[in-house]
Amino acid sequence: MNSRDISMAGIGEVRDDYVPASDYFSQEFAELENELLWPRVWQMACREQDIPEVGDFYTYDIVDESIIVVRTAPDEVKAFFNVCPHRGNRLTADCGHVQRFRCSFHGWQFNLDGTPNQVVDRTDWGDKLPDEDITLSPVKVGRWAGWIYINMDPDCEPFETFLGPAIAAHEPLQMDGLRYHWKKSAVVPCNWKTVLGMFNEAYHLQATHSQMLPYWDDYTASYARGRHSMFRYEDTLPPGLPSKRLGKSPEDVDIRQGLADYIKDMDKTLKTSEAVLMVDAVDRLVEEVPREAEPLEVLMKLAQFTMEDLAAKGIDGPVLTPEQIAEVGSDWHIFPNHIMISSANAVLAYRARPNGHDPDSAIWDVYSLLRYPKGKEPEVEQEWCNDLADEDAWPLVLRQDFANMAGIQKGMKSRGFKGARTNPKQEIPVSHLHRMLREFMGV
Ligand SMILES: [Fe+2]
Repeated sequence: MNSRDISMAGIGEVRDDYVPASDYFSQEFAELENELLWPRVWQMACREQDIPEVGDFYTYDIVDESIIVVRTAPDEVKAFFNVCPHRGNRLTADCGHVQRFRCSFHGWQFNLDGTPNQVVDRTDWGDKLPDEDITLSPVKVGRWAGWIYINMDPDCEPFETFLGPAIAAHEPLQMDGLRYHWKKSAVVPCNWKTVLGMFNEAYHLQATHSQMLPYWDDYTASYARGRHSMFRYEDTLPPGLPSKRLGKSPEDVDIRQGLADYIKDMDKTLKTSEAVLMVDAVDRLVEEVPREAEPLEVLMKLAQFTMEDLAAKGIDGPVLTPEQIAEVGSDWHIFPNHIMISSANAVLAYRARPNGHDPDSAIWDVYSLLRYPKGKEPEVEQEWCNDLADEDAWPLVLRQDFANMAGIQKGMKSRGFKGARTNPKQEIPVSHLHRMLREFMGV
């Protein structure tokens, strides 16, 4: 790589308040990621729920690679490069169930553990085709909180080392008990880091989602956590009270009604997260709690009513301490491309992947997970919803985010744009990703 390539690739200094623009659109930077990031980093492939039975497989595609994730025993998951060792054909697509993997080209078959099961006319090779030559190439597997991660690098760091502080922060949530509420994906018109960075901070809330301000005080503080990062609401009014940006006196606002408006609105406009589980309980606030109750008391009552309602429905989630809530915060970004907005009984998760080699295109996966009564988990199919303005496919809040996407990707290429001036308090997850990318790739 010559010096022009390097400057094109934007290998400049990242600061908390600056990210080189070309990270987001240069072909050279994308190719660096394809060589030095994706083949070496732990990345979320699917959830345990995607492959519940022995023989169930999930095909995880990333740039030019494809990985088969397969359940080989009730509590054993293995992964392989998705390629037939005979002539290189792909063995699987999407997900499904098999006794053995079978190549459609010449009918070679492989056991779930990757060993060859049948080679048509194998005697033609004499003794020149030992099993070790034609066993599927293994890929490492890491399992955490119901998520299944893979790593193509046989010499990668241990999965637990990679997750680092994310493990302790998420442990109290018992996230492995959550199940899909819905699962949607789309091809989006921007770089994978562009879309990731749009969902990795709450600074945009006051402009992009301003309908939330009457019941949501929106100032966040954000922090690096090893290679990962998180943000949380700090020095804010309790939920249900208006954003300080609106200049309203909180005493004039009925927090009981504010909470009801917030929960019902989020249930309608985001269709995910804890609000979905609170709609049936929230009306009790106005009915049973006096108007003059202190905000803390109102919130405690809401927690109590919600727990009673969920318990009556057979949902038995963890009770988190204030310290645990503070550490899991509002949102965690797991390097490089997995986001989780978590609470005791719900997670809204995202994953961004490059769409092939095009730096202006990405695949955006959205996962709504909820805690369900045992045996009442819905059957959820993966949906592809590429029309980002489709009101039936995507809830309002996500459509509001999507509406910014193409403009950002195009605008960052302008000769008038000098690089992203990220907010050094509220947008650390955005800048930190780029700093960590450079460190991880060694560029
Ligand atoms: Fe947003």
